[in-house]
Amino acid sequence: MTLAAQLLDWYYKNARDLPWRKDTDAYKIWVSEIMLQQTRVEAVKGYYKRWMERFPTPEILAQASEQEVLHYWQGLGYYSRARNLLTGVKEVCAVYNGKVPADEAVIQSLPGVGEYTAGAIASIAYNRPAPAIDGNVLRIFSRLFCLREDIARQTTKREVRRLVQRHIPGQCPGDFNQALMDLGAAVCIPLRPRCQLCPLTNLCKAYELDIQDTLPVRAPK
Ligand code: ADE
Repeated sequence: MTLAAQLLDWYYKNARDLPWRKDTDAYKIWVSEIMLQQTRVEAVKGYYKRWMERFPTPEILAQASEQEVLHYWQGLGYYSRARNLLTGVKEVCAVYNGKVPADEAVIQSLPGVGEYTAGAIASIAYNRPAPAIDGNVLRIFSRLFCLREDIARQTTKREVRRLVQRHIPGQCPGDFNQALMDLGAAVCIPLRPRCQLCPLTNLCKAYELDIQDTLPVRAPK
């Protein structure tokens, strides 16, 4: 089996049941990914549900006042995220007829949306084979392929991007990306990775050499 097939098999048995995984509507994925940028999954769940009850569509959000939007964000912190979302949905309504664009580069042009978030939205909502590379993915791939370069370096990130692009499946790329998120959260964790639970040990170069504890390499600042 391929890396993607092994990972997806594991994911379909072990995926976390999260409120933003019930629907692939691009606006909902966008909101969830912005909330998750600097906030833990457990903390986001309640905010996400309250937000979607009040602002279920881009049009409804675009008509709300900034004051009310900030009220629904109250407690999540980093309030520029909420302001950017409001500005972004207004743009989506005015320029894209209320539909979040499907092209990764266009998604990334929205305020507050970086490379990672654009890849997450394009893959989860639109089935585009776009990588979504965060710290979890850098850690997982540095172990799988025994990359010993500092993961803070651009060259290392480019190498990981190339590897993810090579392994991301044409079918279900969003599930592939979310499987990596779950694997990084529960199994391929920073300290003492739980390799006995991992579906990819047969492919993992670090596991083979028993050096998973020493990766990724992060040079001191
Ligand atoms: N962190 C960022 N995006 C996520 C997602 N879609 N599911 C779980 N954790 C995440």
